[in-house]
This record gives sequence, structure tokens and C-alpha cells, in this order.
Amino acid sequence: MSTTRLDKWVKRNYSSDKSAMFGPPMNREVLNKQFLKWIGSKQRLAREIISYMPKRYGTYIEPFLGGGAVLGALSPQVGIAGDVLKPLIELWVMLKEKPETLVKYYTVKWREYIKNRLETYLQVRSTYNASPNPLDLLFLSRTCYGGVIRFTKEGQISTPIGPHTPIPPAAFENRVKLWSRAVQGTRFLHADFQETMDLAKEGDVVYCDPPYLYSQSIVYGAQSFSINRLWKSIERCVENGTKVMLSIDGSKKSGHVKLYLDKPADLFKREIRMRVGKSMLRRFQKRGLTMTGEDVEDRLLLTW
Ligand SMILES: C[S@@+](CC[C@H](N)C(=O)[O-])C[C@H]1O[C@@H](n2cnc3c(N)ncnc32)[C@H](O)[C@@H]1O
Repeated sequence: MSTTRLDKWVKRNYSSDKSAMFGPPMNREVLNKQFLKWIGSKQRLAREIISYMPKRYGTYIEPFLGGGAVLGALSPQVGIAGDVLKPLIELWVMLKEKPETLVKYYTVKWREYIKNRLETYLQVRSTYNASPNPLDLLFLSRTCYGGVIRFTKEGQISTPIGPHTPIPPAAFENRVKLWSRAVQGTRFLHADFQETMDLAKEGDVVYCDPPYLYSQSIVYGAQSFSINRLWKSIERCVENGTKVMLSIDGSKKSGHVKLYLDKPADLFKREIRMRVGKSMLRRFQKRGLTMTGEDVEDRLLLTW
């Protein structure tokens, strides 16, 4: 390939970020256009995380899917993605199989919302809480405070309404189309991470983004998460010849609180520190207060 052609190819397939020169190609259209707002979303880090993946892999596996920022940016040809939250997985299946249903519902609710914000928000939240379902979850994720979908112990969403105006239906439809295309090769599982990771074979890549150990024990399905079980699943993957990447809390409060992570010796071969910026969860908890000293750093651990 001539230098100019190579330059053009690099420009087309990769961002201007040097780290993104490595790893598999990314779906640049999806990178900056979130489908779901989700607490702990890796949207800002997806590009960097993917740059550390092997260029070639068999199946891409994501056992803690949430808002699926890395899945979307990677748009794998063959993928498996799981999460313990049932309506969330139902939403991903709808995105893949019936994207027009999402657009229709969003459009109707958005119009009601524009006329009567709080009443519409509270109505959607109570419908969801009475009977958890993918469509209401989607609307709440786009309208709740800071995108922090937060569950009580009883599984009820408790987040108040956000101050922002949710994106208009036409922009939402555009995102749904992009994301629906991005997940056509992915199979979605309502499953505990262990079940999803047990499907990994030699040559596959698993990306784990478990609930933040330090701050997320109160949100979503975190109650069912155990780091010791995760170590065992990762060990099994490594024995099978699967490469595993793990995102984990680095430090909070701009490095003043170092997080304790008791991982088995030798399980990981590399550790990369990534600066995330301000934590959305802390932003939510400290509404109206200063965010100085609330910087978050993430770590990416690699088993190869
Ligand atoms: C940090 S979030 C993932 C965020 C995601 N990377 C993104 O970009 O939006 C963690 C996810 O793990 C899920 N989860 C919690 N416990 C789990 C378990 N035992 N098995 C599978 N998923 C679990 C939660 O429902 C949540 O969606």
C-alpha cells in the first residue's frame, strides 16, 4: 500500500488518538453517539480499551454489558453479551430485532414529556417499577438525573428526573439505526457473568466491566456480584486460551483513596491506568456541590 493510501486507510479506520492505531478497527460512527446512558458507561474509554485488544479474535464476549459502550464501538462480527438485568437484555434484543418499536415508543413518550416533563417522567418510572420492562427502562435512561439508573434493594428505580432535555426523536432514531447495525452479530443473554464467560473458547476475547467495587454496591444488580467468583471465571478462560480484559476501579478522589484489589498473583500480565474524569455517580450524589477532588481513574488489566 502506498503511503497516501495507508494514511487514508488509517484515517478511515482509526481515530486521531495514537493509541487507537493498534487493536481491531472501530465503528467510528457509534463511538460518540450513546444509545443508552448507563452508570459506569465506558463511552469515554471505549476507544482506548479497544486499542489494547488483539487485532484478530474469534468471538467477542462481554459478560457485564450495561450500556455496552465497548460492544458498540467494536461492532464485532460475532459477539456474545450478557447482563443480570432482565429488562436491559430485553432492550438489547429489541434493538437488534425490532428497532422500530424503540423509536415509536420513544417518539410518543418524548412528545408527552415535552408538554409535561415531571408528570410523564413519574408515570414512566412508576409503570417500570410496577412491571419492569425494556421500553420504560430506555426512556428512563435518557431522562433520569445524570443517566444514573439507580435501583433500590427491592429492584425499584429511584432516580429523580434530570434537568436536561432528552434528544429529539429524529436524533434518537439515527442512533438506534447505527446501534442496531452494530449489534447484528451479537447474541444477548440474560445471564450471570459466570454462565456467559463459560462460553469462551480458545482465541476469543472477553471484556469484563463489573460493578465498581468501591462505589456501585448500591446500584443495579451489584448485589449478586462477587469478585472471587470473577477471578475463578477468568482463570478458567485463561486455561482455555481465551484472552481476558478487565476494567476495575483505579483510584477515587484524585488519587487520595487507593482502592484495594486482592487479585490472584500472576493472573494478569499487564496493567494500564486510564483517567476517566469526574464520576457520574459522585456527580449524582453531590448534586449542587463542588466536584473538586472527585476525579476517577480506571485500571485495565490484561491476561496476556
Ligand atoms: C459497570 S456496568 C457495565 C457498564 C458498561 N461497560 C457500559 O459501557 O455501559 C456493570 C453491569 O454489570 C451488571 N451486573 C451486575 N452483577 C452481574 C452479574 N453477577 N452477572 C452479570 N452482570 C452483572 C449490571 O447490571 C451492570 O449493567
